[in-house]
Amino acid sequence: MTTVVRKPAGFRQACDDARAGSRTVGLVPTMGALHEGHFSLIEEAKKRTDFVAVTIFVNPLQFGPGEDLDRYPRTLESDLAGCRERDVDVVFAPAPDSMYPAQFQTQVSIGELTKPLEGECRPAHFDGVTTVVAKLFNLAGPCTAMFGRKDYQQWKILSRMAHDLDMPIGVVGCPIVREPDGLALSSRNRYLSASERKRALGIVCGLRRAHDAWCEGEHSPDTLRSLAAEPVQSDFDRVDYVAAVDPDTLVKPAGPSSRVLIAVAAHLGTTRLIDNVVLGEDPRP
Ligand code: PAF
Repeated sequence: MTTVVRKPAGFRQACDDARAGSRTVGLVPTMGALHEGHFSLIEEAKKRTDFVAVTIFVNPLQFGPGEDLDRYPRTLESDLAGCRERDVDVVFAPAPDSMYPAQFQTQVSIGELTKPLEGECRPAHFDGVTTVVAKLFNLAGPCTAMFGRKDYQQWKILSRMAHDLDMPIGVVGCPIVREPDGLALSSRNRYLSASERKRALGIVCGLRRAHDAWCEGEHSPDTLRSLAAEPVQSDFDRVDYVAAVDPDTLVKPAGPSSRVLIAVAAHLGTTRLIDNVVLGEDPRP
């Protein structure tokens, strides 16, 4: 049976009770609008742990001015149905004022890893993410937490945070789940018109070109970046970045290396999509 709790204290109690009964806790933090990508995180949590907790909270702190906080899809009833179907043990769905009461004034801020890529385009975004996830980790207590690698930089930052702050949390990055044509699943895909949905494949096309070239022996970050960038530039309305960086430091490698992260962020109309592939590690997208 899936229990739904609204208050932080209730969520903490549910996770404490599970551990008191010798069950390991698996945490799946989400902003709702659950899709197969989220469900794959739930399945991974079920494989690894005994008690699965899903959190559903559209975190206002991680949206900048002019971003899509107001229109971000809120589909709690169908999200809960999806969690019940998959036998999630507890869903924590707090109201904003129980996460951020009037006097709230604390921020968790991570260093270098937050600066490039998303950090350059969305300046306060990662402080919002690390602050809310630190709260969720503290409420859940010792656990294993699942994150999708579509938000590759987020996953790296949260692993760093847990390590640096000695949080008793195992942070797991799970593979990107894609549509049959390759488009990475995202709650934001539902904003796309039919013609934008077709043009969205420009990102996959770019990642595949880089992947194919890599498999044929091309390891120059600049060349791989240009190959990935071309279809994104021609199909999208605006490109925030197409980058070829070291998958651990997220900075540009000095020369050819054994693994390269190709990361993309670009806009179609009012929708911003991100995607990535780690060459030398991930399968062809
Ligand atoms: O990836 C997300 O959905 C969010 O950034 C997260 C980790 C749930 C924090 O709000």
